[in-house]
Amino acid sequence: MPFVKSKIVSLTLIILGLVFLFSFYHRSQGGSYFPLIPATKPSVPPSENSDYVWAHVPQSYPVRELSRLPQSIPKSIPIIQHSFPHESREERKVRIARLDTVKGNFTHAWQGYKTHAWGSDEVAPLSGRAQNPFGGWAATLVDALDSLWIMGLKDEFEDALQQVEKLDFTSCSLEELNVFETTIRYLGGLLAAYDVSGQKYPVLLRKAVEVGQMLYVAFDTPNRMPITRWRFHDALKGVPQEAGDGVLVAEIGSLTLEFTRLSQLTNDDRYFDAIQRIMNEFDSQQDQTKLPGMWPVVVNARTLNFHEYSGFTIGGMADSLYEYLPKQHILLGGGSQQYRKLYRDAMVPMKEHIFFRPMTKGADVLFPGDVSSDGQTPLSELHTEAKAQHLSCFAGGMVALGAKVFDLPEDLDVARKLVNGCLWGYETGRLGIMPEIIRTVACEDTHNCVWDEDRWHHEVNQAFPDDNGSVEDKIKTRRLAPGITKIDDGRYILRPEAIESVFVLYRITGDRSLAEKAWVMFETIVKHTITDIAHAGLNDCTVDDPPKQDRMESFWMAETLKYFYLIFADPHIVSLDEYVLNTEAHPLRRTV
Ligand SMILES: *[C@@H]1O[C@H](CO)[C@@H](O)[C@H](O)[C@H]1NC(C)=O
Repeated sequence: MPFVKSKIVSLTLIILGLVFLFSFYHRSQGGSYFPLIPATKPSVPPSENSDYVWAHVPQSYPVRELSRLPQSIPKSIPIIQHSFPHESREERKVRIARLDTVKGNFTHAWQGYKTHAWGSDEVAPLSGRAQNPFGGWAATLVDALDSLWIMGLKDEFEDALQQVEKLDFTSCSLEELNVFETTIRYLGGLLAAYDVSGQKYPVLLRKAVEVGQMLYVAFDTPNRMPITRWRFHDALKGVPQEAGDGVLVAEIGSLTLEFTRLSQLTNDDRYFDAIQRIMNEFDSQQDQTKLPGMWPVVVNARTLNFHEYSGFTIGGMADSLYEYLPKQHILLGGGSQQYRKLYRDAMVPMKEHIFFRPMTKGADVLFPGDVSSDGQTPLSELHTEAKAQHLSCFAGGMVALGAKVFDLPEDLDVARKLVNGCLWGYETGRLGIMPEIIRTVACEDTHNCVWDEDRWHHEVNQAFPDDNGSVEDKIKTRRLAPGITKIDDGRYILRPEAIESVFVLYRITGDRSLAEKAWVMFETIVKHTITDIAHAGLNDCTVDDPPKQDRMESFWMAETLKYFYLIFADPHIVSLDEYVLNTEAHPLRRTV
């Protein structure tokens, strides 16, 4: 009976681990945020498989002293969710009908994956082909596990676990693995499925540990900074590694939640230590950048220069670095003040230079833009590009969460305007969907901004200097809504960020108009993206008959449909007072 035996072995290891932990309990040192302990803790955490090859790849640059997970402080995190009033019978009826419709669409996509691509990373929603762009470890399946559980699809969930059992993280369909994507989708997906299902399915933690052990090898570099685009097969052979000299901050700066949760669940501090080293670099150089408080999009992880480059954004390539600051504070249960400081200092330049008010016919909203600094120009003259990415639509949720967690009530107003910005992006979209990237006219005065048709026309003309014809022609042929000067990228690839922020703000404020707007978004998106097999991204959502892509990214079922579902679910389901959601919408259980 191997099952029982392995339980006894695990139990013994847990006890040994606890004894060991307690022997170092009082050895904390002052001076740094996290006490350091010698790295001589048992290297085999409770659920680890000792035959696993990644566990035996020798570390060339072993850690000498580990940062230890800080003790969380009970009641240090303010209540986040709104106290929702009792709903009427009629309200409940509408809500449940919507919930079922979202679930019906989720099931439709799940069946398409199951029929055509079971065990592969993705199903192609037009051709039905199976595709493996994420290593070939069933990305869609792993990413959707917690959604299955949350939506009450328990049989499907248990079916999927048999596939999880078979996942082999010692072989990979790619030469180069994206460590960030692997962390947020696979590690986050497995940990969250383990947490939301009440920690009753040990295979999920076992597989999460396997992913963690694999990824931990990417940190085996001279300065312990991880390689973000990682040559999997070379690493398996033990080829010496060095961190990259041009690394995207989102990829190196948002591994914190998943690695922290893994340490919490295994009592193995190595994972937390691995990411804490990164965040200490961000911390120590936060004031030295060309936009102090924020970090450039690209940093040099090889030389540990995190301040030199010039481009600043909270959109793609940087986004989740910022998103994870308040979330990591919550997951650590207020046991550290470091993430409060990082967030607070980042918000100052963000409010001043990144958030801008677009000129609209009446809506007082905000978008996050981009800032480029040449390092010479004084900060007060920095130019904000009035560009809005769908990816940056997470910002409303981040600012709303930060407002609650760090008790900054005036920020809730900023959060509302950011959410309304993306809703404006949807409402002014040709089909009712916001494209990937749009350009707008930035108001000169945020507090006083009236619609100026000439200025809009002027900027449209500037955006298309080579087009013949009148400005009216340009607006017509380019399908520009009032206030929009150019559509840089007209795709809609089933992204979640706008509904994510609507969800967070709704759970925080209880504002029912948000749920109504969410419903309109849902119906519109589904109408244009549904296929016989599943749902498909749109190549251009600025035309009436949008051409579909043969692709459904795993975040559609992991994030977009989950957020739609949760908006219409009982607010106690995945309560923000019990869970922290990673950047792939995977709910990680809070310890306090
Ligand atoms: C999917 O959503 C659409 C739009 O609301 C709805 O009409 C349809 O019935 C849903 N599909 C399923 C299978 O529930």
